[in-house]
Amino acid sequence: MMGSALFTLATALIGLLGAAEAYNRRYITNSSGEVEVVIPGATSYNGLNLVPQMGWDNWNAFGCDVNESLLLNTAQAMVNFGLRDLGYKYVVLDDCWSSGRNESGYLIANPVKFPNGMKHVATALHNMGLKFGMYSSAGKWTCGRFPGSLGYEQKDADLWASWEVDYLKYDNCFNQGQSGTPKLSFDRYNVMSEALNKTGRPMVYSLCNWGNDDPYDWAYTISNSGRMSGDIYDQFNRPDARCPCTESIGCAWPGFHCSVMNILNKMAAITSRTMSGYFNDMDMLEVGNGGQTDSEYVVHFSFWALMSSPLLIGTHVPTLSPANLAILSNPAIIALNQDPSATGAVRKWQYFMDPDENGQGEIALWTRDLHNGDVAIALLNAANSAHTLNATMDQIFLDPRTAGAYKEPVQLRQSWHVYDLWANRMTEAEASAIINGTMNGTAAITNTNSTINPRVTRYNATSLSYEEGLKNNATALFGVRVGTIEPAGTWSVEIPRHSVKMYRLRSTGVETVRTRDEL
Ligand code: GAL
Repeated sequence: MMGSALFTLATALIGLLGAAEAYNRRYITNSSGEVEVVIPGATSYNGLNLVPQMGWDNWNAFGCDVNESLLLNTAQAMVNFGLRDLGYKYVVLDDCWSSGRNESGYLIANPVKFPNGMKHVATALHNMGLKFGMYSSAGKWTCGRFPGSLGYEQKDADLWASWEVDYLKYDNCFNQGQSGTPKLSFDRYNVMSEALNKTGRPMVYSLCNWGNDDPYDWAYTISNSGRMSGDIYDQFNRPDARCPCTESIGCAWPGFHCSVMNILNKMAAITSRTMSGYFNDMDMLEVGNGGQTDSEYVVHFSFWALMSSPLLIGTHVPTLSPANLAILSNPAIIALNQDPSATGAVRKWQYFMDPDENGQGEIALWTRDLHNGDVAIALLNAANSAHTLNATMDQIFLDPRTAGAYKEPVQLRQSWHVYDLWANRMTEAEASAIINGTMNGTAAITNTNSTINPRVTRYNATSLSYEEGLKNNATALFGVRVGTIEPAGTWSVEIPRHSVKMYRLRSTGVETVRTRDEL
C-alpha cells in the first residue's frame, strides 16, 4: 500500500518535472484522480511554438484544389530549395480534403484526392524531415462546406493523432451562432484545445477566427497562434469594402480581401499580445502570387517576420521565381521572426502623405527590442514616391526615454552599428542555380558558409537553430554593416516608393557622455 502510494507520488513528480521543461498546462494523475497542473512562468499552453511556426499552406494559391501530389511535390521542392532548412517545416493542408463522415462519426479523407490516405502523406512528409498540418472548422461545416468539427472534437483529434498530424488550423465558419462574445468563442475553441491535449500527441493549435471576439484576451491560454484579421489578398494597400475594419480592436466583421497594409496597421494596437507560445497570425504569405511588385513583397515579408507572425508560404513552391525564392530565403529577416524574444514591433510614428492611385500613402517607423539587446528598426515608405525618412534615437528608444529615470537612458549614451538586413539578399543567379538544381539548396548553405567570403546568403537552421546562430553571431543572420548612429543621433535614408529599409542596430558597448550643449 505504502509502496504503491510512493510509486504514484514518484510518477507524479517525474511527470511534473518533465512537464516543467516545456508545458505550462498538463494533466497528471495523483491520488485524487486527474488534475490540471499549471507551471508558473511558462507561456506556451502546450509547450509548443516558442517561436512562430514556419511552413507552407495551399490555400492562397490553390484554394480547394488539393491532393496528395500537390503536397508531396511542394514538400520535395521545399527540401530541394533549402526552405526546409531555413525553418519552413509545416506542410499545411487547408480546406476541402474530406468527403464526409463514416457511420462511426469519423472523418473520411477524400479517396480521389488522397488515394493512399492521410497517414501515408504524414509518413512521407516526416521522412522528408517535415511536419504535417491539418485543417478543420469550429463549426458545423468548414468554410468550403465540408464537415466541421463542432460536436466531434475528440473523435477528430483522435483521428488526426492516429494519422500522426503535427498541427491543426481551426477555422470559424458555420459556428452555429456560438460567437459574439469572447466567452462563447473561448468555450468553443477550448473544446478542441482539450481534445488535442487528451490525445497525448504534440500538435500545434492554430486558431483561425479572424480576430473575432478579441482573441487577444483569451486565445493564448488555449492555443499557439490566432489569426487577427480577415483573409489576406494579394494587394499591397488597395482598400476593399469586403474588409471593412482598419483597426483590430472592436472589429465586428473581419471580412476578407484585406491588403498587406491593412493587416499590418491592425497589428499596431495588439502587438503586446504576441508572446512565446502564442503568435498573432497575420495570415499566409502572398509572396509569389503575382499581385505585388518586388519591393512590395519585400515589405510584406519583412513585416510578417518582424511582427513574429507565423510565416506560411502561400504560393506554388516548385515554380517559384528566383526573385521570390530570394525574398522567402533571407536568413537575416527570418532571424527576426525566430528571435527568442517572440515579440512584435511597436509603431513609433506614422504620417499619412503622398497618396497613390489607391488613395493610400504613409510613412512609418516600427521598432522591436530583440533578445540579445539588438534593436530592429523598419523604416517604411508606403507613399507614392521616394522620401528621405529619419529615425532619431529618441524615437527608437522612446520607452527607456520616457521611463521616468532622472539619468539619460543607457541606450542613448551609446553608439550603435547599423546592419542592413536586405543587403545580402540572394542574387538572381544564386537563386536560379538553386531552382535549376545546378546548386543544391542545402549544399549551397554549406558552401557559402565560409570565413573567406563573409557574404553568406544561406542558413541551415536544421543544423544550428536561429537561437544558437544568433548567440554565435552567425554571419548570415546579421546582413551587412552600413554605418553607425552616434549617441542621441539620427539615421536618415532615402527610400523608394512602396519599400522598406530593415536594420538591426547593435550596440558598440561604448558609453559616451554627451557634452553640455547637447543636453
Ligand atoms: C477561411 C480562412 C482561410 C482558408 C479558408 C478555407 O475562413 O481564413 O485561411 O482556410 O477559410 O475555406
